[in-house]
Amino acid sequence: MSRRWILSLCAVTALSASLLPVWGEAPQKVVEIAAVDDLVAEINAKVELLGQQVASAEAFAKTLEKKEVNQAAGVVACMAQAIVEHPDKAKAKFHAADLRDAAVLLRAAKTFEDATKLFASVKDAHAGKSAGTAKPEAEWNKLTGLGRMMEEINGRSATIRRGLRRLQKPDETARDCTTLAILALAMEVDTHEVKDPAQLPLWKELSVKYRSEMIAMAKAVRAKDTAKATEHFTAANEACNKCHEQIRDKGK
Ligand code: HEC
Repeated sequence: MSRRWILSLCAVTALSASLLPVWGEAPQKVVEIAAVDDLVAEINAKVELLGQQVASAEAFAKTLEKKEVNQAAGVVACMAQAIVEHPDKAKAKFHAADLRDAAVLLRAAKTFEDATKLFASVKDAHAGKSAGTAKPEAEWNKLTGLGRMMEEINGRSATIRRGLRRLQKPDETARDCTTLAILALAMEVDTHEVKDPAQLPLWKELSVKYRSEMIAMAKAVRAKDTAKATEHFTAANEACNKCHEQIRDKGK
């Protein structure tokens, strides 16, 4: 091999080594947000929900208007990628990257026939029956759609608000919070709705703010500190309103 050839190979290797982690990983380490057991529990719940949504042509037809299959599959994709990037990923009894890819494909299902077929591969991957060939890297802004993510955040915020009143199931409520914090990783990097580049730092600031409040809230909920949990919930909701007013509805 010529010297020049070796040098350029080195350059390519160095370049890809420095680039890959940047586009392949979430903007915050997932281990700081959620435990693998919680990510798996969330995936189990959504796979069960998806099973109900595609159980019959009638059931599937009802999900179309609000794109509910897309929404649930998007959550699975984000949680699966979080497991891929988690140091304790071996605790999951399936190939998380395979499950992620199967879930992303299911998001696009338009017909009952497609949905049935695509859900079958989600189920297989979830049951640990996939080949384990999917690559670990993924772009977080391609895992779910912003509108579906917002619907998920909205619905789950209502559940959290109810759960907070008496805090009878702190573990469930805390998992709701960490699930939203993981979704907020995708929120931070999915900036396509920001029409004015000058607002990109504000988008990042509000996504990070939302995420850190939900992480702190999960901790307070686990410690059964309702007052503190409520404070973080209120602060998180301020980030929603600020982003909608200052970015989403700008110029409307
Ligand atoms: C960093 C910015 C940002 C934050 C934080 C944010 N949103 Fe949004 N939200 C948006 C944008 C942008 C849209 C429009 C998305 C679209 O139409 O695809 C949106 C849309 C929505 C929608 C309409 C969804 C639809 O079907 O199109 C709801 C509901 C919503 N957000 C709720 C919330 C709630 C609740 C929170 C906080 C708990 C929140 N959002 C936090 C930016 C944000």
